[in-house]
Amino acid sequence: MTEHQSIELGVNVDHIATLRQARGVSYPDPMQAAEIARKAGADGITVHLREDRRHIQDFDVFNIRSGVELPMNFEMAATAEMLEIALKVEPYECCLVPEKREELTTEGGLNIVDQQSHLSAYISSLKQKNIKVSLFIDPDESQIRASHDVGADIVELHTGTYAECDERSRESELNRIRQGAELSAKLGLQVNAGHGLHYQNVASVAAIPELKCLNIGHSIVARAALTGFYEAVFAMKQLMNGARLESEGNGL
Ligand code: PXP
Repeated sequence: MTEHQSIELGVNVDHIATLRQARGVSYPDPMQAAEIARKAGADGITVHLREDRRHIQDFDVFNIRSGVELPMNFEMAATAEMLEIALKVEPYECCLVPEKREELTTEGGLNIVDQQSHLSAYISSLKQKNIKVSLFIDPDESQIRASHDVGADIVELHTGTYAECDERSRESELNRIRQGAELSAKLGLQVNAGHGLHYQNVASVAAIPELKCLNIGHSIVARAALTGFYEAVFAMKQLMNGARLESEGNGL
């Protein structure tokens, strides 16, 4: 097996919760999605508990932590509120991300260089509970070195710029990620990557030998909605015509 074939997939189930929260009902349940992901071969489950609770709720984090037998990557801003929750959840890993209320999704990596003393103390509180700490950063040399200096175990390199750039910049953006991965690994950091990866752009990133895990959410949820659409319509029509269907519970 070549090295890149063993790269791990962390499935982010935030947008299953987005769909639920859009209606304020109990379905679809991110825990059910996490369990399906496990059966499909996912290596971990990612949830981002945002300050505004726009998708994942506190109970989702606890349910998935106790109900799904996969390592949890708990994404959060480096705030006092989230630290308290993380220390109760005790996930396998916490990934510290920047967070702005008005953004649609995480924009840009966390600036480690500018908050080294805050992050050093924050990271050591998590590590005291044996929680691994990952920092979501742009693939920049200064941010990678600072991540190492503040005691991170893992860096997650932001692939958003690569995912969104035009064809002309694709190779240079990919090279930034390659070089970032190489430097991170040289410093002894585990290297993950994610954001904006989809079915057309993932292969070149997955081929970077230093990468241990890719965290992917939006495109998987989006594809699932379409690949499952035929079956969902078909089942509803059958039910309306008197068929008995095995229910998934929760209205589905
Ligand atoms: N990694 C991090 C740190 C993220 O914040 C996100 C988005 O929540 C992802 C990975 C997944 O990104 P996407 O949903 O675009 O696959």
